[in-house]
Amino acid sequence: MCGIVGYLGNKEAYPILIKGLHRLEYRGYDSAGVALVNSSSDLKVYKTKGKVADLESYTKGKDVSGTIGIAHTRWATHGEPNNVNAHPHYSQSESLALIHNGIIENYAVIKEDLIKRGYKFQSDTDTEVLVQLIEYIKNTNKIGLCQAVQLALTQAVGAYAIAVIEKGNPNQIIAARKSSPLVIGIGDDEFFLASDATPIIEYTNRVIYLDDEEVAIIRRGEEVHIKTLANVEKTHEVKELELSLNELEKGGFPHFMLKEIYEQPKRIAEAMRGRINVEANSVALAGVIDNKEKFLNARRILIVACGTSWHAGLIGEYLLEEFARIPVEVEYASEFRYRNPIINKGDIVIAISQSGETADTLAAIELARNAGAFVYGICNVVGSSIPRNTDSGSYTHVGPEIGVASTKAFTAQVTVLSLIALTIAHLKGTIEPDRYQELIKELASIPAKMIRTLEVNAQIKDFASIFTYAKNFIYLGRGYNYPVALEGALKLKEISYIHAEGYPAAEMKHGPIALIDAEMPVVVIAPNKGMYEKTISNIQEVKARKGRVISIITEGDETVKKLSDYTIEIPETEECFVPLLASIPLQLMAYHIAVVKGCNVDQPRNLAKSVTVE
Ligand code: AGP
Ligand code: GLU
Repeated sequence: MCGIVGYLGNKEAYPILIKGLHRLEYRGYDSAGVALVNSSSDLKVYKTKGKVADLESYTKGKDVSGTIGIAHTRWATHGEPNNVNAHPHYSQSESLALIHNGIIENYAVIKEDLIKRGYKFQSDTDTEVLVQLIEYIKNTNKIGLCQAVQLALTQAVGAYAIAVIEKGNPNQIIAARKSSPLVIGIGDDEFFLASDATPIIEYTNRVIYLDDEEVAIIRRGEEVHIKTLANVEKTHEVKELELSLNELEKGGFPHFMLKEIYEQPKRIAEAMRGRINVEANSVALAGVIDNKEKFLNARRILIVACGTSWHAGLIGEYLLEEFARIPVEVEYASEFRYRNPIINKGDIVIAISQSGETADTLAAIELARNAGAFVYGICNVVGSSIPRNTDSGSYTHVGPEIGVASTKAFTAQVTVLSLIALTIAHLKGTIEPDRYQELIKELASIPAKMIRTLEVNAQIKDFASIFTYAKNFIYLGRGYNYPVALEGALKLKEISYIHAEGYPAAEMKHGPIALIDAEMPVVVIAPNKGMYEKTISNIQEVKARKGRVISIITEGDETVKKLSDYTIEIPETEECFVPLLASIPLQLMAYHIAVVKGCNVDQPRNLAKSVTVE
């Protein structure tokens, strides 16, 4: 979490840094700050609790000049979100300023030691120990900043992406990373630094991705110099970004989330492009074909992910077991990494992540690879850590997802999982050729059906205000729609702060039914496929206890409509593809309820888009 930006060049740094912070604000918005070295070589730090806009108000009328600077938008881990804990942090003598994304796990020991040596701390953060330690090492050993950073970081346990600048030196930024992302942009006589490429793309598409335990020395008029903590020189390929600037704008929508919901038909078509051949009625996912033997011989697939990506993983389990006939287990990456799981050599681990930077998922990948498993990534952000740390994989190709609540990334993950399942099933012969072709045809028609599904927006907007009273919601679904119920509940919780639970519909009578009364909205995903009649019985059980039923039904289904208080119709599709359509009205419902409640839809409280800390 938290976003870091840096600039060194010929332009004024402040406006570039502020713009960059706005782009990274999705990563954290507890506080914001900037450090600049001006033309008199003074080092100035301005920081404040709140958002980037608050920092802009705070710096009004102040000297924000300088062509070198670093900036930070925080998602607090250690110390409450206040002015003092905001980054950048000064060193004791105020000659260094540092920004940090991550957690220094052994900060307490280092802090205690530095206090004994006369260092005074201003903040409650783990970060402040780094800047103090760097200064201490620099002064006691009489060495340069880069070497001091290298030595300090060898003592740090945990995760970091940092940038440091110093008073008296308007020509140098030192940056380093371990387990937290950092990208360096190379322009004409200028350099950029950021947690992801979004603040950089406006100025250059040439980037370098730092690897773990590497330090970058960015100096005016020189090439970027990269070394390891142990001082081994490194050369890095300069990569070209394919991101476009208008993908980072709201494009006329009031919120990124709504824009991203509406993008789904186009983006899902893009996720399938080149992978489904409609003429030949076949599907071929390069990552799977290239590793054909591994997939054909896999005895088991383990899916690891967090949050929404974990929900997509559950749908993946149903798809892979039904079509490819491979046993699948889906695990929260955070549990998997710490529970000494059994991983066999022939296992395939699929890691799913929108950001490609989720700390727990990355750790699960490392564990799986060390145990000899073949690791396949399903990821959205090109060049992020997960695709760089997996053996093979598929991008979801839905462009930047900026709203903190994941929408288009989820449907794209389900699409890619469908392609994986169908590719393996076809290779293994576990699917009848006719059925395979039917499913491909249907999958190819999903983007058009998504366009029709989006027509329910006006209806959902109308009834959203009715439910703002609710303190709780229940979401029910069976089979493929059970993960959809979980995902619908998560969306509502995240952005409207209404407590919501998703359950397999049949599980309701084992406990949650006790919650149902006339106040309780119950969302039931009840398409005319799968266990249709059984779902109807579950709706009857809710109605018998006066619950208010909102059902997601197949177009024209009068039976469920009669039983429900509100119905939302989606086009008919194959049972396994219902999640791709049914999740859209649930996204819209969460969105409109949150808007009516006046919540910050794109930046919900306490959350951050990219969870780069455990
Ligand atoms: C989704 O709406 C959430 N904000 C969150 O659960 C997210 O899916 C989770 O943190 C995993 O992120 P990732 O896909 O980037 O790994
Ligand atoms: N641990 C640091 C803090 O609490 C940085 C957190 C982050 O990465 O957002 O300030």
